Amino acid sequence: MEIKKTDFLVIGSGIAGLWFAYRTSQQGKVLILTKKKDTDANTNYAQGGIAAVMDKEDDVKYHIDDTLKTGDGICHKDAVEYMVKNGPQLVEELYRIGIDFTVEEERLSLTKEGGHSHRRIVHSADRTGAAIEEGLLNVVRSNKNVEIDENSYVVDFIVNATTPYNQDIVGVLTYDREKESFFIIQAKIVFLATGGLSYIFEHTTNPPIATGDGVAMAFRAGVRLANLEFVQFHPTSLYKFLVNGRSFLISEAVRGEGGKLRTIDGYRFMPDYHPQAELATRDIVARAIFNELKKRNDEYVLLDLSDIPSEDIKKKFPLIYKTVLSFGIDITKSMIPVVPAAHYSVGGVLTDLTGKTSMTHLYAAGEVSCTGVHGANRLASNSLLEALVFSDAASKNVDIEQISLRPLPSKINFPEEIIYISDNTYIEIYIKKLRWIMWYYAGIVRDGETLKKGINEMEKLKKEIYALYPEEVFHVRLKELRNMLTVGTLILKAALAREESRGLQYRKDFMQKSDSFKKDTIIERREHEIYIH
Ligand code: FAD
Ligand code: SIN
Repeated sequence: MEIKKTDFLVIGSGIAGLWFAYRTSQQGKVLILTKKKDTDANTNYAQGGIAAVMDKEDDVKYHIDDTLKTGDGICHKDAVEYMVKNGPQLVEELYRIGIDFTVEEERLSLTKEGGHSHRRIVHSADRTGAAIEEGLLNVVRSNKNVEIDENSYVVDFIVNATTPYNQDIVGVLTYDREKESFFIIQAKIVFLATGGLSYIFEHTTNPPIATGDGVAMAFRAGVRLANLEFVQFHPTSLYKFLVNGRSFLISEAVRGEGGKLRTIDGYRFMPDYHPQAELATRDIVARAIFNELKKRNDEYVLLDLSDIPSEDIKKKFPLIYKTVLSFGIDITKSMIPVVPAAHYSVGGVLTDLTGKTSMTHLYAAGEVSCTGVHGANRLASNSLLEALVFSDAASKNVDIEQISLRPLPSKINFPEEIIYISDNTYIEIYIKKLRWIMWYYAGIVRDGETLKKGINEMEKLKKEIYALYPEEVFHVRLKELRNMLTVGTLILKAALAREESRGLQYRKDFMQKSDSFKKDTIIERREHEIYIH
């Protein structure tokens, strides 16, 4: 099998991977692997913006306070302070290298979102993520030290272990979808930037790439994970109509600019739930919608934009305006039918402030990681910021001169033993089933009984899948399905273990917060068992 060698191996071409590649290209050769096209990343779909203190009226202490308050008692304060303090200069740098942020009166325009006490969301109209993705791709594509391999699906880490608890990543096994063959990539440093996992839920704003591969492969290799139970459900995605396989997001910035939520018969319900009404944090708004739908047996609520002038709607939200119009709804005249959808994974691979994981030479940043910044809940637009700040920190903390390539282990699960399948009809059926299980058993409102049922359902599904497709059968979509099984089971088990309601985790059987759970949930694989502590 062909072996490629590089200094820095970056898995993922979203904001975290691209920023790390841009920075480390000054130190050595960088190879970026990405499983589809280079633009296929959650980053490309971000709408609202990136949070940073840029206004005279604002202060880092307010952004820190808002983040800590939203995180509901378990944020890592040092990580929050690091992110908020380092954010503004990096956001300015993004602007300087050509990211097309919206400017008004010669200053970066700032919008507002739920949970923020001040206007601090830097944005590019309502397509901030696409502007960042395009801009960063332009920068790295023209860099001689960076190579991007599209359609390169990373299957697993290659690890050298002196003991089960002292492991060193020396490379990865990857499958090239165009050449239909496997490769080994040997690297001095591996940077994991595989993004989110919310596609494992039936209703989601995430594109189909968000299958949690990074979390699953890290778990298989024994890397420490944290807080997977905290999945953020965005309150407002477009009801019923899908765009490229995902629910289309109606940005929180729409509520920030004056959008109001109403039941189908016109009642504005959010003031009944929270003094900040539509601008309460997402968990509160999503649960309020869930409650109204259940109470009234409705299928959606309405987002009323009549307080926002038509011209502002078209200028500030051109993507939302055009997309919703393509389904026959003119949002300058009619209300938008919306429902909550799985949106963001707060938990992931546990890292320190420099992106270091529990495995030697493996770094992680972005949505796949858990820096502790978000605690039990993420403040809107803090995720692009987190990805930027901690991929930057990681790039500053590796000195490639001091690191050499290490030998590959003598035994790797070589693909010669693998049988390929071409028909994936059943795989798609299983994926559908799995996503349904996650939505109904690990959704916005949870309880112990339902979570246990979900775990049993996943166990049954796993048995069926392995009976039909034994371990040696390979197909990218099958690997994604197996990863989704792993990640889904971990979410269910972590949610069951946390016997309290905190932040994004809402348990009907434990409605209060409990001091004994005022900590991270640590998830590890030892001797083929899952340890949650
Ligand atoms: P991604 O951008 O998701 O990139 C992951 C990369 O990893 C992709 O290139 C993918 O192909 C690759 N990959 C995954 N698995 C493999 C594998 N096995 N092999 C090879 N490659 C792999 N956050 C904000 O802060 N503000 C917002 O306004 C905002 N709006 C959002 C709107 C939407 C609709 C969505 C879905 C998310 C939004 N978010 C927002 C969240 C934010 O976009 C993400 O958290 C962030 O972009 C994640 O960046 P990332 O670099 O970690 O991962
Ligand atoms: C949005 O625009 O509502 C998404 C913002 C985010 O996920 O932070």
